[in-house]
Amino acid sequence: MASHASPGSFTGTSPVWLREPEDVNALVPVLWSRTAEKVDGVLRIGGLSVADLVANVNTPAYVLDEDDFRSRARAFRDGFEGYDVYYAGKAFLSTAVARWVAEEGLCLDVCSDGELTVALRAGVDPARIGYHGNNKSAMELRRAVHAGVGRIIVDSYAEIERLADVAAQLGVVQPVMVRVTAGVEAHTHEFIATAHEDQKFGFSISAGAGFEAARRVVGASSLELRGLHSHIGSQIFDTSGWEVAARRVLGLHAKVAAELGHPMPELDLGGGFGIAYTTQDDPATPADLAAQITRIVAGECAALGIDVPHLSIEPGRAIVGPAMCTVYTVGTVKEVSLDGGAARTYVSVDGGMSDNIRPALYDADYSCTLASRSSAATPVLARVVGKHCESGDIVVKDEFLPGDIGPGDLIAVPGTGAYGRSMASNYNHALRPPVVAVKDGSARVIVRRETVDDLLATDVG
Ligand code: LLP
Repeated sequence: MASHASPGSFTGTSPVWLREPEDVNALVPVLWSRTAEKVDGVLRIGGLSVADLVANVNTPAYVLDEDDFRSRARAFRDGFEGYDVYYAGKAFLSTAVARWVAEEGLCLDVCSDGELTVALRAGVDPARIGYHGNNKSAMELRRAVHAGVGRIIVDSYAEIERLADVAAQLGVVQPVMVRVTAGVEAHTHEFIATAHEDQKFGFSISAGAGFEAARRVVGASSLELRGLHSHIGSQIFDTSGWEVAARRVLGLHAKVAAELGHPMPELDLGGGFGIAYTTQDDPATPADLAAQITRIVAGECAALGIDVPHLSIEPGRAIVGPAMCTVYTVGTVKEVSLDGGAARTYVSVDGGMSDNIRPALYDADYSCTLASRSSAATPVLARVVGKHCESGDIVVKDEFLPGDIGPGDLIAVPGTGAYGRSMASNYNHALRPPVVAVKDGSARVIVRRETVDDLLATDVG
């Protein structure tokens, strides 16, 4: 990340992509959920003022725009017409959200017994659930097969054997997808790229493991091979990664069908569609993505002389990410001198890496806005930080905020719906914040704030 001399009336060090806004009070629409607006400087979502909302639920709080979530789900469902769209529950899952997913006609991807339990508790049809994971235990597999999960995505030879035994014991023929790695270097952070060779997921296509896994599944009478699965990573903007992956995966798909004489009716291309966290990001619409991916797959199938399989995708972030923001209260504000006479305003809020680990874990950028009033003060380059005992506890690395920001102000950070609450922790014995769903002027707590009793419930002395 490069630095440059800042323009205008402030001193500071900012990344090249960050421009001083014309109006520091204005929202940048692409970063916010659909119903977000400012009225007299106060952020409103779903027709509700976040100031009124947090007067009831306190801060920090995740605010989930139900209409926005549902419309993004529908945009994937309609854009990817003819596909099965599995919402990736790891991004954020609760019983309410699982029900919205089902109501909007999407399937659900889970990757743990906990996520499966939430989905079943919500009443999701198990036949519409896909089950992932690189280390599913026999107990987890048994529960999944017993529940009637529609597809299990196998990830190792040991799991194929384990699953075949479990299904045989339960007298079930379990539909299975084989997860393969296509050897694609997705242009994203190393920790969220998943299809290069040297990592823990799936079977390598180039090393022949993908074919061998398919052979073993076909050979197990209690398993039914439905097709291959490939997920190349997360927060990806460029379809060239999917293009290379589709070519390699379809090559194996055709080889399995031809050499094992086994029908391969399905293909899953995973998730990973990027969203805008800051003005640096420019995501495509689901309809555009669908057009490009469908064209890529059709072209490859034509070249291989095979029928186009039934396709599925697994978006998580692109559905829930922009639908949620986090609202914090400002506490301490401190001006820190930097080398060369510049200064940075450190704005401390009442949450941090316990409710959003992504800046610390992936160096992720976010943006934010003053949410409780408008201000005519000159913008300053600010860094919003949390209240945890680590200097890496950053909420928003670089943002312009009004120079008069102070204790008691509310700040809202957009785009925190994916992997915010779902990766939240109790670090420093923080109480994980609630998720409040808003719609048409009313609010509903769908995940309540943790209490000290919750914290102490597991501390058995
Ligand atoms: N399908 C599979 C098999 C996956 O492993 C994932 C994400 C998805 C779908 C959904 O990807 P999405 O559309 O949400 O990008 N914690 C990281 C992201 C890890 C993603 C893990 N797998 C983050 O906060 O960026």
